[in-house]
Amino acid sequence: MLRVGVLVSGGGTNLQAILDAIDGGIIVGAEVVAVISNNENAYAIERARKHNIPAFIVTPKAYGSREEFNNALLETMNVCKVDLIVLAGFLVKIPEAMIAAYKNRIINIHPSLIPSFCGVGFYGLKVHEAALKRGVKVTGATVHYVDEGTDTGPILLQKAVEVRAGDTPEILQRRVMEEAEWVILPQAINMIANNIQAI
Ligand code: GRF
Repeated sequence: MLRVGVLVSGGGTNLQAILDAIDGGIIVGAEVVAVISNNENAYAIERARKHNIPAFIVTPKAYGSREEFNNALLETMNVCKVDLIVLAGFLVKIPEAMIAAYKNRIINIHPSLIPSFCGVGFYGLKVHEAALKRGVKVTGATVHYVDEGTDTGPILLQKAVEVRAGDTPEILQRRVMEEAEWVILPQAINMIANNIQAI
């Protein structure tokens, strides 16, 4: 059974998609053993608690230094015996020591078709604002492995979503979540849990 740790900072709709996919048999061979947030007010924590999943608040402001925070974050993974770390809207830089300790075992969901609209500064609504400003007709979401860069690791899955006339960043964000993020993130976890190779 693949032990999954999900790192969150916000509403947790991607976490919810993972939990629903496990309950619905779309993900087999994996279980979420911990949800960790840097934001004590993240609704994602409430979603975890409703599912009786251990939830941890690990926030830089609770530690004397970033190094102490980094150590606490990695220690939480180790204590929970996490096999796969899933970044689901986690807005804190992942420590290099964690990337090294979990080489090819950290995945992230990004709300664009990488290499478009990604990298430093491209997160949340900013991604969709940039897509609309550029005038792309197709956008989407990407699941990729996390390496030392920002949104630069090997791509595992992508799913395209059409941009429609009159889209606002908020409308487009919701469509990308519903039609792409909430589909490919569970799919990616299931692939990893069952050693299914990407095409
Ligand atoms: C999603 O849009 C995801 O693409 C991005 O952060 C957001 C997280 O949303 N990485 P939620 O907390 O899963 O609702």
